[in-house]
Amino acid sequence: MNIDGIPTRTLRAHPEKRVIDIIDQARLPHALHWVRVATLTEAAHAIRAMQVRGAPLIGATAAYGLAIALGEDASDARLAEAIAVLGATRPTAVNLHWALARMRVVLAPLSPTLRECAAWTEADAIADEDVAQNAAIGQHGLGLLRQIARRDGRMLNIMTHCNAGWLATVDWGTALSPVYAAYDAGLPVKVWVSETRPRNQGLLTAWELAQHGVPHTLIADNAAGILLREGQVDAVIVGADRIAANGDVANKVGTYLKALACADNGIPFYVAAPRSTLDFACADGAAIPIEERDGNELRVVHGLDSRGVPSALLQLPPGQAVANPAFDVTPARLVTAIISERGVCPASRDGLLALYPEEAQ
Ligand code: MRU
Repeated sequence: MNIDGIPTRTLRAHPEKRVIDIIDQARLPHALHWVRVATLTEAAHAIRAMQVRGAPLIGATAAYGLAIALGEDASDARLAEAIAVLGATRPTAVNLHWALARMRVVLAPLSPTLRECAAWTEADAIADEDVAQNAAIGQHGLGLLRQIARRDGRMLNIMTHCNAGWLATVDWGTALSPVYAAYDAGLPVKVWVSETRPRNQGLLTAWELAQHGVPHTLIADNAAGILLREGQVDAVIVGADRIAANGDVANKVGTYLKALACADNGIPFYVAAPRSTLDFACADGAAIPIEERDGNELRVVHGLDSRGVPSALLQLPPGQAVANPAFDVTPARLVTAIISERGVCPASRDGLLALYPEEAQ
């Protein structure tokens, strides 16, 4: 994706310095600030505190975090410890566990002296594959959008939830990759961006769409229903944090309500995700762990004050009971299709296995 017209990735690796640079997403959309990650503790903090977020970027950051950890000590004990520390940061996005498992398979058989170099190489491969897979998702999604555009012949109105764009991946995004592909191909496209309380990832989506020049409008989460009912949306495209073997989809809380409203109004509901988000070991959505995050994410609102200084505002009495499930599960029957790097398939075991026959037991 372009930032100031320059193709840019969200993560920069510097193996010679044993560090990576990430964008501190907690400071967006008000400031684009790069942060250096130089220790295992800093890598785990970046993921847990959501300086990096979005399933594919969490996976890539964990892979590099492991490489950084092995620069300090590449023993068997350190390898196991670092995988445990990084694996405990966030539970729902399976890309984290997928990336760590892939790193372990490569690194565990090696002698400690060879591990650090191999870890940087494998983390680079994970990052490069993420970019290529997301670009492929964009092209497959573009095919679907072209069909809708032909039917309609007017501006394509896409709705998305959370941020499943460039910022959530190493490049291009998942749900937003078809949007960028459509925009770059000259299709008239506009995006309805839902705010995504309480962490407001919709503001990140609005920010990155603006960077690339894609027309978009931000809405409160609860406005999605009326727009879908009034025919102002041609398709909803979201990302995923984990897709179970039967096609059930865990994604940012609020996704399920959009899928329900799409089903009620005959609007296609697409889920875009790469292989690293598919969990064939997870039979269905009921087996997906849902992250419960700190209640302060509801209690405290962040923004700029009247002088433009970053500020926090308590919007609830401190004793107010709150619940903060960060994800929900959309049943496969509400998903029109899954868009992966291998193509478009029904959200079902058979559909997924048709794209990934090597996963058939
Ligand atoms: O809690 P977050 O911000 O990490 O959640 C992100 C999402 O739910 C995204 O939609 C999902 O990870 C898909 S990312 C391409």
